[in-house]
Amino acid sequence: MSDMKELEQQIQDLRTQIQKSEKLSSLGILSAGIAHEIQNPLNFVINFSQIANDMVDDLTDILDEKGFDLEDEENKELADTIATLRSYLAKIAEHGNRATDIIQGILLYSRGKSDEFIATSIQKLLKEYVWLSFHAMRANLTDFNVTIKEEYDPTIPEVKIIPQDISRAIINLMNNACYAVWKRQQNTDSSYVPTVTVKAYRQGEHLYISVEDNGMGMSDEVKQKLFNAFFTTKPIGEGTGLGLSITRNIIEEKHHGKIVFESEENRYTRFTISIPMNP
Ligand SMILES: Nc1ncnc2c1ncn2[C@@H]1O[C@H](COP(=O)(O)OP(=O)(O)O)[C@@H](O)[C@H]1O
Ligand SMILES: [Mg+2]
Repeated sequence: MSDMKELEQQIQDLRTQIQKSEKLSSLGILSAGIAHEIQNPLNFVINFSQIANDMVDDLTDILDEKGFDLEDEENKELADTIATLRSYLAKIAEHGNRATDIIQGILLYSRGKSDEFIATSIQKLLKEYVWLSFHAMRANLTDFNVTIKEEYDPTIPEVKIIPQDISRAIINLMNNACYAVWKRQQNTDSSYVPTVTVKAYRQGEHLYISVEDNGMGMSDEVKQKLFNAFFTTKPIGEGTGLGLSITRNIIEEKHHGKIVFESEENRYTRFTISIPMNP
């Protein structure tokens, strides 16, 4: 009888998980749509900052024609104002371009078919998704903060991967790492510096990506079960227990790679992914 109850509970849990993952996939479609829509107004911002900059050139020409010498001490205030204006316009363009990069990233990864291998800059992909995860965690966890260290070998060439999937794997590992440092921070003194280190490097024919945190670590029991679907130590609403089983599937089945980990309770956890550079 109690077996029956347990089974019913498991079915109920599965239903909840399916609903959640459906919500997530429609969120993906939605964000691609939003990204697309934001690109248009963003183009205006970038173009007009360029035009405004050209107009500052015109302005200085006119001043020149009228006999204003901007080098002259007497016109210092005017010269300073023009210089400041230029630097602000440069800032608008710079950050506008940065936003464009992010949006193009989202569009690229959401556009790729789910089984398509695309030559991808792993450094770029990591940069984007590491910070995406950081901001998502910061929005969700109260008092969350962490130092993120990024060490990406700049000589890694583009690698053929399924970008949608690898970015998902990165987000899963990052979310777990952020959660682990957050958890440890709740039960520790103030000298603790929560840190997550993400590395990308090459060894032989393989690309390696590691995500290390100095968070709560794992007990032996957790170490044995963590790749099981629905295994979670997190309260309902904070964990689904699917992250690592999905991640292992992405790495080992789809990319013919490997995922391993090392961990010590209350010290650290490090997950390392390796995938062949030429699949
Ligand atoms: N970086 C980590 N530090 C400590 N424990 C971890 C870490 N990553 C995963 N775990 C453990 O593995 C479990 C399963 O992880 P995962 O499959 O991502 O599911 P979820 O995050 O939803 O719980 C977590 O609940 C946690 O106990
Ligand atoms: Mg997880």
